[in-house]
Amino acid sequence: MKNEKDVDKQDQETADQQIRGLTRRGFLTAMGTGAITLAVADKLNATPAAEAEMIERGEMTKVVLQINGRKYRLLVEPRWSLLYVLREELGLTGTKVGCERGECGACTVLIDDVPRYACMTLAVEAEGSKITTLEGLMKGEELGPVQQAFAEHDAFQCGYCTPGQIMAVEGLLRKNPKPSVEEIRNGMSGNLCRCGTYKHIVNAIKRAAELKKA
Ligand code: FES
Ligand code: FES
Repeated sequence: MKNEKDVDKQDQETADQQIRGLTRRGFLTAMGTGAITLAVADKLNATPAAEAEMIERGEMTKVVLQINGRKYRLLVEPRWSLLYVLREELGLTGTKVGCERGECGACTVLIDDVPRYACMTLAVEAEGSKITTLEGLMKGEELGPVQQAFAEHDAFQCGYCTPGQIMAVEGLLRKNPKPSVEEIRNGMSGNLCRCGTYKHIVNAIKRAAELKKA
């Protein structure tokens, strides 16, 4: 006859086996249903921390990303952000890493012409959309109108926020080619500049609107 200790041990072994069989993709899929999520949480709670790390990592999935008019076929982990893929997998380092939690705007890119934080967008989520990064605004070696306007108006100091600011301006002007100062302030509210060059940025945006018209 099994004693209480044996039963506990058997329960523990069963939970361990179930967790070992749970892949990362399986876990993410399970996140879609509350009941399964709770079941997984129960398993994790019932398992020592070292055993909980047995969940497989690194499962890859295929994506096709359309970036700056070019198609990239990639293998990515479902958890990878678009920011990570752009910089670390494709070497498109014009997109900057700031807070990585949707607060600063340094990582702004255009997705279907709308400014979005690449740190808050999964690469798999961006499949099927048109992605534009800072590199995509260049015409060969020539600066695009927004980049040109930022240079003309000294709309930066350290320059770290500038790529994200430029992408946000590009998105703003694609939607509204002649924004008022109020509309500029609203449109740029998701991009912070710790050097405080906001006044110059507003002037650069007015200039960029003129350059785009020309
Ligand atoms: S790095 Fe994406 S919002 Fe700050
Ligand atoms: S120019 Fe330095 S943070 Fe904006």
